[in-house]
Amino acid sequence: MTQQVVRVGIVGMGIGRANGRAIQADPRGEVVALCDLIPERMEEFAKELPRPVKFYTDYKAMCQDPDVDAVMVGTPNQWHVPVALEAVKNGKHVLVTKPLADSEEAARELVEAAEAAGVVNMMSLGMRFSDQVMYLEALRQQGFFGELYYAHARALRRSRIPDWNLGFIQKGGGAFRDMGVHVLDACWSLLGKPKPVAVLGVAGAKFGPRGLGYWDFRQPKPEYYTQFAADDYGGGFILFEGGLGMQVESFWAGHHEHIEMTQIELFGTEAGAKLRPLTLYRTVNGAPQDIVVNVPKKAEGFSEVAKHFIACILDGIPCEAPLRHGLIVQQMMEALLRSAETGKEVRLD
Ligand SMILES: NC(=O)c1ccc[n+]([C@@H]2O[C@H](COP(=O)([O-])OP(=O)(O)OC[C@H]3O[C@@H](n4cnc5c(N)ncnc54)[C@H](O)[C@@H]3O)[C@@H](O)[C@H]2O)c1
Repeated sequence: MTQQVVRVGIVGMGIGRANGRAIQADPRGEVVALCDLIPERMEEFAKELPRPVKFYTDYKAMCQDPDVDAVMVGTPNQWHVPVALEAVKNGKHVLVTKPLADSEEAARELVEAAEAAGVVNMMSLGMRFSDQVMYLEALRQQGFFGELYYAHARALRRSRIPDWNLGFIQKGGGAFRDMGVHVLDACWSLLGKPKPVAVLGVAGAKFGPRGLGYWDFRQPKPEYYTQFAADDYGGGFILFEGGLGMQVESFWAGHHEHIEMTQIELFGTEAGAKLRPLTLYRTVNGAPQDIVVNVPKKAEGFSEVAKHFIACILDGIPCEAPLRHGLIVQQMMEALLRSAETGKEVRLD
């Protein structure tokens, strides 16, 4: 009999809950198990679910559960690869939150293992699957922009260094892997996923180690912020095959205008675009047109991600956001951070 429902185990009760809600809301998805180091977080989320679920504090045990078909990984960055590796080794499909990993080596190991295991492996990318980015992607595929040759991707927060999990500020965390990954992935995808050839970047920590710049100006305890070992800003330039260029930056904190969420700007030979508010720019009969587009809200949160993940498993359709995309984005991020450390351009070709 063909399988009708994907039974999913969720690891990590932060962003894992948002992904879990979307999976549960899909008629062909069911959350059957939860895993977290903190039992109360599982108990709290379980109250939202329609049927009783199993609780695990050990992700390895969950990954061996024969009643689990797929694992959603929502732990801090440093645990994405260990958990997802365990899942794929046990033949489970995996959905991994961003960024794919805390280093390029770890990302590569996971992608190779997932592909060798032949399981569906997908990045959970809320931004790439958002209504607005999907709208721009459809326009690109229709040739609306002509040749896209330049882009600017930006995440800028006034004071929003995460203060609830050390994973964010320890090695393998940082602003660039946290928010830069969203804009970099969505923008790279909108450019048609060109091959990166060189990266030059800067990055540093100007606020976090001083106990400044934390979430909505909250004051973290010194025990927290003295462990800061990541970047709180990073930015640079990526050169792609064919001469395309992307300027990308991510600030967890800065004395600057807070932009709501993120911004992407595209430059094409026939038209350009800005993501927020979604605006298209073109010239018709010698006159510029700035078109503000109100995309009707179709999807809630991670529902497009969940729908696609489930369709890949049950219908066998090709995955549009495989972990291999996460690896290419990770390569670009790590190259930018390496360039910042060495003060030199990093070649990827
Ligand atoms: N829009 C998005 O896609 C989005 C948004 C927020 C966070 N994230 C990502 O989600 C991850 C977690 O961030 P968060 O804000 O949800 O953090 P969080 O602290 O709220 O949640 C993480 C949970 O993982 C649990 N955990 C840690 N190590 C574990 C382990 N070994 N086994 C089982 N559980 C473990 C923690 O107890 C915690 O409950 C990060 O990698 C972040 O980048 C993605």
